[in-house]
Amino acid sequence: MGKDVVLVTGGAGFIGSHLCLRLFDEGYHVICLDNYFTGRLENFGDRYQELLLSGRFEFLRHDVIHPIALEVDKIYHLACPASPVYYQYNPVKTIKTNVLGTYNMLGLAKRVRARILLASTSEVYGDPQVHPQPETYWGHVNPIGIRSCYDEGKRVAETLMMDYHRQNKVDIRIARIFNTYGPNMAVDDGRVMSNFICQALRGEAITMYGSGEQTRSFCYVSDLVDGLCRLMESEHIGPINLGNDSEITLLELVKTIEKAMGRPLPVEHKPLPQDDPCRRRPDLSKARELLGYEPKVPLEEGVRKTIEYFRKALGD
Ligand SMILES: NC(=O)c1ccc[n+]([C@@H]2O[C@H](COP(=O)([O-])OP(=O)(O)OC[C@H]3O[C@@H](n4cnc5c(N)ncnc54)[C@H](O)[C@@H]3O)[C@@H](O)[C@H]2O)c1
Repeated sequence: MGKDVVLVTGGAGFIGSHLCLRLFDEGYHVICLDNYFTGRLENFGDRYQELLLSGRFEFLRHDVIHPIALEVDKIYHLACPASPVYYQYNPVKTIKTNVLGTYNMLGLAKRVRARILLASTSEVYGDPQVHPQPETYWGHVNPIGIRSCYDEGKRVAETLMMDYHRQNKVDIRIARIFNTYGPNMAVDDGRVMSNFICQALRGEAITMYGSGEQTRSFCYVSDLVDGLCRLMESEHIGPINLGNDSEITLLELVKTIEKAMGRPLPVEHKPLPQDDPCRRRPDLSKARELLGYEPKVPLEEGVRKTIEYFRKALGD
């Protein structure tokens, strides 16, 4: 008997592409399902041919808002645009992706008795009033704002996961992912890491929304993928926070990029957009205790690798 067949929805996206490669390298048969809204085959780089010829990697163009029948053992359900630029492009579609998409994947998991892991998000905590955020915190979310299609969509997705688990005994895992960065992020995705690095590489001023004193915690993508795999293989259903808990201000992030690029970067301040959280940091106690998870890649190293990737992506 071969190793399990693993379905990764959103597999051609930023996190999905890294996850697919890790699973493939571990010997799994991988089905990468994507509608290519924000995902790209280029994310597999020079490994694309190898995957195609391997006989145990399949690319499947499909939209998760429609049901699908497949024989799989595990499902990593990541399909959903993650950056505000894309999830706000068609907010109704974002809700459909989160709600109908998760409903369809749960239906599949139930039929073929597959274990399913949902890539949820720290956005379920909204603009949190508790720091750092433990999984027991119910959040502070605006239900009618411009980010709600994503935040509330993911909250319903979590609810569906729990209800299928309680009602139908589906074997579920819920990961709450915090800010993740690294190679394969889209150049124009509007997230702070890609914005800052691309502006720096283009020789433009860094656009800072607000004072820059707001904090974030940035997790390098290989650490996050490690957390997802640990959760999938564990006996804990979650929700479990995954990310990096070293909190820095956005001004400190600019300093780290300056250091990696070896030159000072001018900063231009603009007003904060609606519902932008002021502070965000995961409480990783559960991930550490239950999964033995520990983020390993220091910010300086991750930023260096990400700069290299964007340098190529921008055609330098
Ligand atoms: N990157 C982060 O910092 C972060 C943080 C929290 C949660 N997440 C979650 O992790 C998952 C992956 O995020 P990412 O950063 O890789 O984003 P991404 O946009 O790069 O990847 C999402 C992938 O899903 C695909 N997709 C979107 N809608 C689809 C649909 N209806 N049917 C099929 N495929 C569809 C896209 O084409 C893309 O390949 C998302 O569910 C996101 O909510 C990411």
